[in-house]
Amino acid sequence: MAMGQRRLGSRRQSQSVVVLLLATAWCAAAQLSQNYYVSTCPNVETLVRGAVAQKLKETFNAAPGTLRLFFHDCFVRGCDASVLIAGPDDEHSAGADTTLSPDALDLITRAKAAVDADAQCANKVSCADILALAARDVVSQAGGPYYQVELGRLDGKVGTRAVVKHSLPGAAFDLDQLNKLFAANGLTQTDMIALSGGHTIGVTHCDKFVRRLYQFKGAAPPPNSPAMNLAFLRQMRQTCPLSYSPTTVAMLDAVTPNKFDNGYFQTLQQLKGLLASDQVLFADRRSRSTVNYFAANQTAFFDAFVAAITKLGRVGVKTAGSGSDAEIRRVCTKVN
Ligand code: HEM
Ligand SMILES: *[C@@H]1O[C@H](CO)[C@@H](O)[C@H](O)[C@H]1NC(C)=O
Repeated sequence: MAMGQRRLGSRRQSQSVVVLLLATAWCAAAQLSQNYYVSTCPNVETLVRGAVAQKLKETFNAAPGTLRLFFHDCFVRGCDASVLIAGPDDEHSAGADTTLSPDALDLITRAKAAVDADAQCANKVSCADILALAARDVVSQAGGPYYQVELGRLDGKVGTRAVVKHSLPGAAFDLDQLNKLFAANGLTQTDMIALSGGHTIGVTHCDKFVRRLYQFKGAAPPPNSPAMNLAFLRQMRQTCPLSYSPTTVAMLDAVTPNKFDNGYFQTLQQLKGLLASDQVLFADRRSRSTVNYFAANQTAFFDAFVAAITKLGRVGVKTAGSGSDAEIRRVCTKVN
């Protein structure tokens, strides 16, 4: 069909290019499959799961770090493990709240080593797929849902810190800003709320919410600062005094910080969300009913989370058929 149209006038031609581009984007997603490595590396799931279990036994921090890493990877250049690439202007040299938590990076490095130590699998599994599997495994091993992961992503060849900065949501985003960014990645408001439930584990540094704790002299109040529980606010002023240390952290889920459950949504109901972007989901009437639903029904949250993270895992993927400049990286922090 596209061939036939190409012989027609130039307007038709540009229309067919659009159709082709859409078809390419659609095919790229369609080419992911749950059994992608069935003949090349049938043990890939077991190998990654084992490496994750070993790392989590040593430090739970790797669980939230890895989940966040997967989210950032997908939003930055599509799920292509590009946030792992080390270079002169990269995530490895970023500050205390870097996308690349050292524990998460170590977890991925170990999972990659475990996969490549299997002779059948060596250099056959992409870092992007290992990250997608590891994200699933940290969620399930922290008490969350277990789900089938679509596979077949290739690794990208470009990584820069600059792109990381402008592709990600900010802690002061309001509902419209959150919806806009997630919609640009093919995700609905419900997907966005379910994925924000990833904050059921892990921490945030004081600088991300300290403006909600104090009235700074001369500074305008933050434009988006939903109300905080007063006793909790006092407690957080102890955790993050005005002279807070840049390394001090607080739990994102005040209810059950180390368990992947629906405690995050109960935290929001109690007005104990630390990030304005979290608390706004309860403060804004347009999203509150979904927060209440997930707070009351963990199964509904888990189902919505699985649907949303599966969609997240398709964002901008590069696959064997998509004609992108991509590869299976031998070392996850370096292009081949
Ligand atoms: C909705 C918009 C989002 C915003 C504004 C946001 C923002 C943040 C911020 C500011 C932190 C704390 C960083 C630090 O101080 O170290 C954080 C941590 C975290 N985020 Fe998000 N995030 C969002 C969505 C997500 C999504 C979709 C996921 C994954 C499904 C996710 C997973 C995490 C995790 C697990 C942590 C804890 C990291 C750790 O303890 O190492 N976030 N996020
Ligand atoms: C909780 O959500 C699940 C999944 O959507 C649904 O099947 C179930 O009926 C809900 N339970 C209650 C008590 O509403």
